[in-house]
Amino acid sequence: MRSHYCGQITSENIDQEVTLYGWVDRRRDHGGVIFLDLRDREGIVQVVFDPDTDQFFERADSVRNEYVLQVKGRVRARTGATINPNMKTGEIEILGKELEILNRSVTPPFQLDEHIAVGEDVRLKYRYIDLRRPEMLGKLRLRSRITSSIRRFLDNNDFLDIETPILTKATPEGARDYLVPSRTHAGKFFALPQSPQLFKQLLMVSGMDRYYQIAKCFRDEDLRADRQPEFTQIDIEASFLDDKQIMAITEGMIRELFKEVLDVELGEFPRMPYSEAMARFGSDKPDLRIPMELVDVNDLMQQVDFKVFNGPANDPEGRVAALKVTGGAQISRKQIDEYTKLVAIYGAKGLAWIKINDTAAGIEGLQSPILKFMPDEIVTQMMSRLAVADGDIVFFGADKESVVNEALGSLRVKIGEDLDLIQKEWAPLWVVDFPMFEKNGEGHLTSLHHPFTAPACSAEELEKNPLGALSIAYDMVLNGTELGGGSTRIHQSDMQKAVFRVLGISDDEAQEKFGFLLDALKYGAPPHGGLAFGLDRLVMLMTGAKSIRDVIAFPKTQSAACIMTEAPGDADSKQLRELNIRLREKPKSS
Ligand code: AMO
Ligand code: AMP
Repeated sequence: MRSHYCGQITSENIDQEVTLYGWVDRRRDHGGVIFLDLRDREGIVQVVFDPDTDQFFERADSVRNEYVLQVKGRVRARTGATINPNMKTGEIEILGKELEILNRSVTPPFQLDEHIAVGEDVRLKYRYIDLRRPEMLGKLRLRSRITSSIRRFLDNNDFLDIETPILTKATPEGARDYLVPSRTHAGKFFALPQSPQLFKQLLMVSGMDRYYQIAKCFRDEDLRADRQPEFTQIDIEASFLDDKQIMAITEGMIRELFKEVLDVELGEFPRMPYSEAMARFGSDKPDLRIPMELVDVNDLMQQVDFKVFNGPANDPEGRVAALKVTGGAQISRKQIDEYTKLVAIYGAKGLAWIKINDTAAGIEGLQSPILKFMPDEIVTQMMSRLAVADGDIVFFGADKESVVNEALGSLRVKIGEDLDLIQKEWAPLWVVDFPMFEKNGEGHLTSLHHPFTAPACSAEELEKNPLGALSIAYDMVLNGTELGGGSTRIHQSDMQKAVFRVLGISDDEAQEKFGFLLDALKYGAPPHGGLAFGLDRLVMLMTGAKSIRDVIAFPKTQSAACIMTEAPGDADSKQLRELNIRLREKPKSS
C-alpha cells in the first residue's frame, strides 16, 4: 500500500522511507542520474535514481511518460539551486531505492501540458488522459467538496435524500424529452426526467416534509457553454414553508458553501422584481458586477422625426432605450460594427450611437449618425437625463421591448467584459415576481417557470388576465448566470386545472398527462414549494471554468454526443425488433 500521496510529501518527511504509486509525468537523464517526476492525484514529486541502484536504475532509464510505477525510496532535502519554489514538493526529493513498472503506456495522444494545442475533440476522445491534468482534477475535486458541503447543510436541516425514477413520464420544463422505448409495452416510451419536479411534489403529498436529491436531469435542447443535455440539479422541496422561508434556507446554503469552500462572504442577497431587472438590465439574470444600466427614452423619442425610433416609442409593446458607456468614446467604428452584429443576433435592426466629445460645445461637441433626425432640445434633454460627460458613448436600441432588452442586455455584458468594467468578484441576487405566462413565437401562452407554479392571485383573476398575473417564483442569479430557480407550488387541483386551461391544455389532455398529480392534489396535499440549482453551473462559476464541459467528468459535445464512447450508437436489428421499432430510413453510417 502507498505510504504517501506524491504531492503531499514535505520537508517534514525528510529521512522517512516512502512507498509511492503514480504516473511518470516526465523523465530526465542528467549525466548518469535519472530524474522521474512521479504524479498522482495529489501532485508531483521528483524521484532520483543513481546508477548504484543497479537493476532499478536501468528500469528507471527505460520508463516513458505515463508509465505506472511503484517506487520505494527515502525522502531527502534538496539543496541550493535544486530547490524548486514553484513546486509544492520542491524542497525535497525521493532517493529511489526500488522501482516496479506496474504498467506501460503507449505514447499518449497529447502531452498533458500541450492540451490546448490539440483541441477539445481530442481531449474528449481521450478524456481519461485529459482528466489526469492537475487543472481538471482540481475542478472535479472542488465539485466533490461542493456536493459534500451541500449534503451536510441539507442533512443538518432535516432534508431527506430520496431518489426518484429515471425511467418515467414526461415532466414539462420546456425542453424536448429524451425517450426510451419500452420492450414490454410495444409502441410505448418512457421519458427521461427533465427534472424530478412531479415526484418531489408527490413526496410532499406523502408527508416527507423536506426532500433533496442530487439528481440527473435530461433535456434535448440547443446546447451552449452553460448547457448540457444531461446535467445535475441540487433539487429541493419542502412543505409548510413559504417562498421567503425557502429563499432564506437556500440562500443560507449557498452562503455557507462559499464560505466553506472558497472562504468568500457573499453577504445578504438583494431581491429584485423581474420587471425592474428587465427595465434596468434588459435581462432576468442581470450581472450586477457591471456598473451600467439601460435608460428609457421612449417619451423623448415619441417626438423625433425618425421612424426607426418614433415607431417603437409610440408602440405599447415597443421600447427605446439608451445604454451609456462611461469613457466609451474611444470605441472604434470597427468595434461598433462588431457590436451591431452582436445585437443583430437578437433581432435588432441597427445600433445607433452618440459619442460625447466635448460637452462644453453643446450639440457641436457630439458625433453621431442619428443627430440629424433629432431636434436639438430633445438631444439636450436626453444628454442631461443620461448625465453624460466628455469621453462617453451612448448606444440606442429601438424595437419591440423584448428585442431591445435582449440586444442591449447582451451588449451591456459584452462591453462590460471588453472594457474590463467588472467591479467585484461575486454579485448574487434573487429575481422575484415573475409573470406567470409569456407569449411564445406562435402567440400561445407558456409558463415562464413551469405549470405547477402558484400564481400570486386567485384562479378567477388568473383566468381573466393571464398575462398580467405574477407567480410566486424566484431565481437565484450569480454573476449573470441563472444558478437556480423555484416556486411555491399549486397544491389545490382546481387551481392546477385553471392553469392548464390558461395554457390551452384540455381537461382530457391534463388527465392523460398529469392525472396522477391532479389525483394526488385531492388527497391532502400540503402547501409546498422548492427550487433546483444547476450543480454544473455552480461548479463552473466557483472554479472559474469557461465551459460547463470542464466541470463534468464525461461531458457531451455541442451536438449532444460522446466522442469517447461514440454514443449515441446504432442498435442492431434484433434489439430494434424486440422494441418494435422500424427505422424510417437507414442511418447514413450503415
Ligand atoms: P429549471 O428548469 O429552472 O427548474 O432548472 C433549474 C436549474 O438547472 C440548471 N439547468 C441546466 N444546467 C445545465 N444544463 C442544462 N441544460 C440546464 N437546464 C437547467 C439551471 C437552472 O437554474 N423543476 C424546476 C425547479 C423547481 O421549480 O424546483 C426546474 O427544473 O441552473
Ligand atoms: P439608418 O438611417 O438606417 O442608416 O440608421 C441610422 C442609425 O440608426 C444607424 O446607426 C443604425 O445602426 C441605427 N439604427 C437603425 N435601426 C435601429 C434600431 N432599431 N435600434 C437602434 N438603432 C438603429
